[in-house]
Amino acid sequence: MVNDAAIVILAAGQGTRMKSKMAKVLHRAGGKSLVEHAISTALHIAPVERVFVVVGHQAEAVGAVANAAGVRSFEQRQQLGTGHAVMCGESELAGLGGLLLVVNGDCPMVRPETLQALVDLYQQTGAKAALVSTDLADPTGYGRIVRGENGDVLAIVEHKAATDAQRAIPEINAGFYCFDAEAFWKHVHEIRTDNPAGEYYLTDMVEILIRAGHRVTALKAADSGELQGINNKVELAEADRILRERKARDLMLEGVTILRPETVNIDAQVVIGQDTVIEPFVQIKGHTVIGEGCHIGSSSIIDSSQIGDHAQIHPFSVISTSKLDAHVHVGPFARIRMGAHLHENSHVGNFVELKNTEFGAGSKSMHLAYLGDSTIGSKVNVGAGTITCNYDGKKKHRTRIGNHAFVGSNSTLVAPLTIADEAYIAAGSTITYNVPENSLALGRSRQVVKEGWTPKR
Ligand code: UD1
Ligand code: MG
Repeated sequence: MVNDAAIVILAAGQGTRMKSKMAKVLHRAGGKSLVEHAISTALHIAPVERVFVVVGHQAEAVGAVANAAGVRSFEQRQQLGTGHAVMCGESELAGLGGLLLVVNGDCPMVRPETLQALVDLYQQTGAKAALVSTDLADPTGYGRIVRGENGDVLAIVEHKAATDAQRAIPEINAGFYCFDAEAFWKHVHEIRTDNPAGEYYLTDMVEILIRAGHRVTALKAADSGELQGINNKVELAEADRILRERKARDLMLEGVTILRPETVNIDAQVVIGQDTVIEPFVQIKGHTVIGEGCHIGSSSIIDSSQIGDHAQIHPFSVISTSKLDAHVHVGPFARIRMGAHLHENSHVGNFVELKNTEFGAGSKSMHLAYLGDSTIGSKVNVGAGTITCNYDGKKKHRTRIGNHAFVGSNSTLVAPLTIADEAYIAAGSTITYNVPENSLALGRSRQVVKEGWTPKR
């Protein structure tokens, strides 16, 4: 953490090359939008009140992301270039002093350690600006680093403006800069638009500061992978793959067992306890927290949910915004959603759907059921084919089932309905009235048997 550093995240551009109606920085890789990646990296370096996002295209949506992360944003109404983007924050930024870091909002893979190394280099060399560079096998599209005979950085030349000789330079500008804030604001208005794009290039600050007699230095990173900017959907997919690989690796190093890690998709914010086993083709999304010693079966999808220790999720289960306590068993082919809460040791089997339902400790619903808007006690047995009829065409109603109740197979429970503790529902019943404690309810027509009927038909 660098207390006198301010960071500006450039996130106002449309990202034409994405060919999308959505602003570039809102696209997601590794489970987070590009701008969220930039913000969380920035927060490792600068205090939260010194992190700023420049918004422009879809300013409201991008600003909302900044807001949710607790950082401020300012608007660049017209996208006149990366230099202009920083200038739009002059009134808020120029008085801050200290260090001014500027980072592209479209580089989600950069590690905080790299930005810290940039600041360290800046501080050690006494230069007025430092930037991150790297050699690329194919530098097409990037700004090139032009160095003098003694190796000093002289300028950044944008690809469009570069001569053939300059285009042959493999060393590129990665889009991360650290400036002396005072020198930056003193000279930033010297940026001109005399380039093929007619834009205010932030990269011109290098020549401007050198002209003013200052030194500019570059941190040349050996690993170019983390510096890749995202400009189209091919690069987005590649970043997503790398970020997920990184996440799986981090989890494995913390003791999570992942089978065929290249097939699983785990979002950045997910937390998983030690000795949990993740089978192939699992997806775990959002702010999901999974305990220790769990088993997550192949092809299951878990989104924004909490899973207690030693839970077993069998293959092909889909769980979203729900809570499973310790030792719960779910699936295969179960769907648990919208605030469902399965208490300890409860079991939910194949083709069972729970929506907004409390399912008590030790209760079981092993096959083919829909339990919606229900409060189900402990040690309840729900037979195959049970349906809670929670919707009357206008409103949703609740079904309450007491402890130790037994619901026979193929029961239709018409809500609002209360089935008290220890009650039995006969198989095949349609239950429309409340059932008191300890009683048996039958809601079906009596069977008729016509003996000797078959030969006469
Ligand atoms: C930029 C650099 C280039 C570098 C490359 C690294 C400039 C002039 N060029 O080029 O030297 O090699 O990044 O990835 O800076 N943005 C704004 N307002 C604008 C224009 C852009 O906020 O008016 C934002 C974009 O949303 C994006 C970032 O700045 O997040 C970079 O813009 P982009 O158009 O991707 O620049 P590059 O052409 O990649
Ligand atoms: Mg870019």
